[in-house]
Amino acid sequence: MSTEQTYIMVKPDGVQRGLVGDIISRFEKRGYKLVGLKMATPGKDHLEKHYADLSSKAFFPGLISYMNSGPVVGMVWEGRDAVKTGRVMLGATDPLKSDPGSIRGAYALEVGRNVCHGSDTVENAQKEIKLWFPEGLNSWTSAAYNWVY
Ligand code: PPS
Repeated sequence: MSTEQTYIMVKPDGVQRGLVGDIISRFEKRGYKLVGLKMATPGKDHLEKHYADLSSKAFFPGLISYMNSGPVVGMVWEGRDAVKTGRVMLGATDPLKSDPGSIRGAYALEVGRNVCHGSDTVENAQKEIKLWFPEGLNSWTSAAYNWVY
């Protein structure tokens, strides 16, 4: 278990359904530290870079078109085991297989409209953070709450 950074993104359906606040709140309340946050309307080129590993999949064009259908909210959360625990908080990729307490388990029914993205490995998190936050992140420490890592 180590202090890591993970890239979490609210997808267009999550933004349009008003789920941004709830998703941020879950990560804040869990004890993760927000070090990057932005709304963006990425073009297809940017999305194809983000999902480059999936370019041979049959669902790739549909995935890009869905992700290109409106703004997304990208964020970077920092803390203990952030990549793996972030994925647990999101729930299984297929919402029908997600734990009901997870974000997808609470708010989604279709893999093609699954509300949010989370980095799957520390290496991919670093790549995604560079792609979405080329300007860098915000570093801060809290003197008041020493249980926020
Ligand atoms: S795979 O096939 O195992 O590599 O895919 P998986 O790891 O399950 O998912 C990778 C991302 O692809 C999205 N996905 C889909 N989008 C649209 N339609 C279908 N059928 C589909 N299947 C998988 C899935 O939501 C993952 O996106 P992210 O943004 O990483 O959550």
